[in-house]
Formats: sequence, structure tokens, C-alpha cells
Amino acid sequence: MSGMTDWVTRMERVMNPGLARVFRFMGLGAVEHTGRGAEVIDDAGRRYIDCASGYGVLNQGYLHPRIVAAARAQLAELAMSSRVLINRQAIELAEYLAQVTPGDLQYSFFVNSGAEAVEAALKLARYATGRTRVVTTVGAFHGKTLGALSVSGRALYQDPFRPLLSDVIHVPYGDLAAAEAVIDHRVAAVVVEPIQGEAGIVVPPQDYLPGLRQACDRVGAALVADEVQTGIGRTGYLFAVEASEIVPDLLCLAKSLGGGVVAIGAVVGRPWVWRMFSEQPLLHTSTFGGNPLATRVALEALKVTVEEKLPSRARELGAWFLSRLRDLAEQYPHVVKEVRGRGLMIGVEFVAPGMAAAVIAELFERGILAVYTLNNERVIRLMPPLVIARSELSTVLAALQEVLAVVAEMAADLEG
Ligand SMILES: Cc1ncc(COP(=O)(O)O)c(C=O)c1O
Repeated sequence: MSGMTDWVTRMERVMNPGLARVFRFMGLGAVEHTGRGAEVIDDAGRRYIDCASGYGVLNQGYLHPRIVAAARAQLAELAMSSRVLINRQAIELAEYLAQVTPGDLQYSFFVNSGAEAVEAALKLARYATGRTRVVTTVGAFHGKTLGALSVSGRALYQDPFRPLLSDVIHVPYGDLAAAEAVIDHRVAAVVVEPIQGEAGIVVPPQDYLPGLRQACDRVGAALVADEVQTGIGRTGYLFAVEASEIVPDLLCLAKSLGGGVVAIGAVVGRPWVWRMFSEQPLLHTSTFGGNPLATRVALEALKVTVEEKLPSRARELGAWFLSRLRDLAEQYPHVVKEVRGRGLMIGVEFVAPGMAAAVIAELFERGILAVYTLNNERVIRLMPPLVIARSELSTVLAALQEVLAVVAEMAADLEG
């Protein structure tokens, strides 16, 4: 038995048998060992350019030296909080977030994942408004805990767990009129991704977020921007809402907030939606949330993102990469349906779902990691670390050129 099969089999025995089968089917069995920048290296020494970024947790790259140094320094002092003495690191991170987030977003509550950030946002919005209804979008992905799952938009993940939260309305994403039609005085929150990630990298019309902002203002509902995936520089802005010049009432963050080194999430809120914590400080809590190790590392990760100008890097490299990808796609209209995105959050939609899987496998053979979007298997996402070099993106383009030719030939054979 080769080492490759061995680890997949061991995973199958003690973790997730179904997932192990998927790894085997896709021919994915290499064991990760280490990484630097946009590159990950397996235990046989093979190098891969990473266009998956661990689903968006590696905006600052693998093991960014400044972020690792901050982790080491904090580990030498204190990792977990006594919860009785004051946790200085959490306060410093909250102060920094209040500075760099738009408008009067001021207060932070720290958690350990994206789903937990969404859970906290739902409770804050319900408490502040005294209402229960939540408006969300079809195809949305907000996490898989029961509350976050309830406001996500894919039956496949929801149906086995019904009844979920009641009083949730799903409207088509990007359709302002459909949202306006249901946003009334019964609505506590409108939850939205500024660009849908797992639905297949869907960029809404320019007036969408401003329109949702106005609709929420009219009825006193909280606008919750889920920036778990779009945040921390990914789309060419530190936060994607900046592109629409709106201020959400609650901003959910996770993934790259941890700088690719720790797990941390946050919900950042305006004063009016923070009533819960003013009146009932223990109504929502998290034992690990905001621990000194995670918050010190997150502060460094944010400073690295700002000081190394990763958002403008994402904007410039992303615009160039997107246009090259579109040129490439034009050569293969029977394979690629559309290329879309903003900054370095890019999706390639294929004509048939099987094609996306073939492209992922062929890219892997050529040392490039890509994944499809969870709620749309026709789309692969190209979301490399924002520190990626232009030469590495050129390597990705060259590989994709070869791969599209191979897949076009496969498709032609199937048709013939
Ligand atoms: C927009 C969005 N929200 C929430 C989540 C859930 O985050 P987590 O997996 O950390 O719970 C994700 C994960 O992909 C996401 O993309």
C-alpha cells in the first residue's frame, strides 16, 4: 500500500469516510507538509501554487513571518485568558477594528469561526430589534451550525436538519426588488454576502448593497454583511462593502482575520445593534472567543494586510488575472461559460459540472491547487493568497491553457 493510500484510508477509518472517498475519487492523496507565501509543499517535497487558500484563510500567505513572530511572542507570554484579569490583546484588536472598519462600526465580539460570527450577529439583531424575521438569499453560504445553516441557501445541506429556524425568507441574490418586497417592519436582519462565495462567486449589481441599506433603514432592520470570505483585502478593499460605500450594522469576519495562523472570527457592530451587550453582558458568550493568542495574531494579520497594501495588490493583480482568464475562456466557449469576480476572488464557471472536477484534477497534476464552490459544482474558484507573485499567476495561466485544451478534447470525444 502506498503512503498516499495509507493516509486516505486512515482518514476513512477514523474521520470522514465519505470525504475520504471524494479524495480518492479526485486522485487527491498528497500530504501537506509546509508552505510559504502562495506555495504549499507536500511531504514528498512536491510544490504547489495554491489558488484555494484553504477556502480563504490564507490571504496573507502561508506562515507570514511577521504573523508567525507575533504568535511566537504571544505564546511566550500567555495564550489563553484567565477571563478574570483584563485581556489587553482583545481590546487592542477591537480598537483597531473600530478604526479600520467603515463608518461607526465600533464594537467587537470575538468567536472562533465564521458560522459563530453569523450566530452572534443573528442574536444581536434579534435582540436589538425585538423581531425574529431574517431575510437572506438563495445560494448563500453562512456556515453550518443550525442558525447559520437556517440563513444559508442550499436545500442539500438544510433538508436533513429541518425544522431549522423559522421565519427565514430567501430571496434571489442580486435582485433588489425581490428583497425590497419582503423587507418590512417584521424583519430583524437582512443577511448578505457582498459577493456570494460558495454560490459560485456571484457579483451583484452596483446598486444592490446601497439598495439593501436603504430598505433596512426604512424599517429599522439590521443589515448584516457576511465578509467571512470577502473580507481582509480579498476583493481589492480591506472590506468588500467599501466598494459600495455602505456601512452595514453588523460585519461578520473570520478566515483570513487569523492571518493563516490562528482560528478567529468576529462580529463588529454599530452602537444601536449592540444593545444586547449593554443590557445583558452574558446573553452570548464564547469560552475561547478573543483569547490572547488569537487576538494578538489577528491584530498583526490586519496590520500586515494594511501595511503591505494587500487590498490594492489584490485589486491590481486581480484585474490583470481576470482579463487574462477571460481571454483564455474566449478560446474555449464549449468549456468555459463565464469568468467573473473582483480582486483576487475569481470564479470560473464551466458548461458542465463534470468539467470543473476534471479541471481541478488536471490542475493538481500540474502542481496547482483549486477547489470548486460548495453550493455550485460548476464553478471553480481561483482565490490565491494575496501575496502571490505575478509570475506565479502566469504559471497558473499557462497550466490552465493546457488543461482547458485537454478538457475541450475530452468533451469533444464524449460528444463525438
Ligand atoms: C461567507 C461565509 N460565511 C460563513 C462561513 C462559515 O465559516 P466557518 O466555516 O468558519 O464556520 C463561510 C465559509 O466558507 C463563508 O464563506
